[in-house]
Amino acid sequence: MDKLKTLVSDFFEKKFNVTPIVISSPGRINLIGEHTDYNMGFVLPAAIDKGAYVAISKTNNETINLYALDLNDEFTTTLKTYTHSAKEWPNYIIGVVDELIKMGKVLGGFNAVFAGNVPLGAGMSSSAALECATVFALNHIFDLGLSKLQMAQIAQQAEREFVGVKCGIMDQFASVFGKKNHVIKLDCRSLEYTYVPFNIQGIKIVLFDSMVKHSLASTEYNLRSQQCQQGVAIIQQKFSQVQTLRDATIQMVDDCLANGDLTIYNRCKYVVEEIDRLILACADLTENNLEAFGQKMYATHKGLSQLYQVSCPQLDFIADCALLQPDILGARMMGGGFGGCVIALIKDENYESIIEEIKTSYQQKWDKEMKVYVMSIEDGARVVV
Ligand code: GLA
Repeated sequence: MDKLKTLVSDFFEKKFNVTPIVISSPGRINLIGEHTDYNMGFVLPAAIDKGAYVAISKTNNETINLYALDLNDEFTTTLKTYTHSAKEWPNYIIGVVDELIKMGKVLGGFNAVFAGNVPLGAGMSSSAALECATVFALNHIFDLGLSKLQMAQIAQQAEREFVGVKCGIMDQFASVFGKKNHVIKLDCRSLEYTYVPFNIQGIKIVLFDSMVKHSLASTEYNLRSQQCQQGVAIIQQKFSQVQTLRDATIQMVDDCLANGDLTIYNRCKYVVEEIDRLILACADLTENNLEAFGQKMYATHKGLSQLYQVSCPQLDFIADCALLQPDILGARMMGGGFGGCVIALIKDENYESIIEEIKTSYQQKWDKEMKVYVMSIEDGARVVV
């Protein structure tokens, strides 16, 4: 990780002749609780050892100069004239600027150099990492006095408004609030959270990257959110207290939706089951019952694949391979879906040979090489010294 700090700060110094401040903000994993955040349910994410880095300093004019070292690209705009960029990557940064300006915060111009090692489009929240690094950095250099929660919310709004993905709060929350060796049990309705220790001896958290690139901005993610809202609107006709799927029970879903549109029924059934499953899974963690926890991960995968329909054949294949391995406690697709990674908990005695076996099967089946990451859980956004 420090390599990235050196990379962005060396480039910055050469370019601008000033020593910048460097901020990093991580990507995330999520153990269980998928597509529950925008339904006001619970999630169980953690920040990881991969993140976005920004070297930044303010200037005395209104120009914003951005450099993306990974893409070997640059972008210039001003505080007065910024608009969406067809290049896409600047939108994550300018989206944060836009939110801050809408809040009435006083910003000046700045120079910023970005680099990162969160794989793009792999479901590990490279976009939230970039947004959170940006808001953390601007808060720092312009002394905006924002709380961590405000920063997470501003980053989320940037994604929803400027980028256009109607996401929940999970990714940005994890990127800002992450804590080494802990997962965050977050109630997305009240935003109350607890840190649950997760330095379980003898277990590796492994991500199998299908290398199928998802496009969250594609209409599918937003469509899921709309379908959930449609389900809520129907349930509300009978149970007026139900504001979101968090307030609904399986009984209500069956009662109000089973005889209607099958897609809406399936979407809502998955979400309500997943919220319940997460609560039980947290109890498993407290009792250190990882076998039971792992079984719930498999159940989540099945729901995401069959009811919520956000998986893809490659992810299903990896989850099926995992099921055949007795030393894999649980596995499921992670993040928004349509590609990206499967997260697996693997007993650590033979984890390397298990990974090799799955890699080989994947190559044979899809004629494609997967990437594999063994994760560690780290702290959230910070100034890197
Ligand atoms: C993406 C979104 C999150 C969340 C997940 C699915 O990562 O950004 O808000 O909805 O998908 O759980």
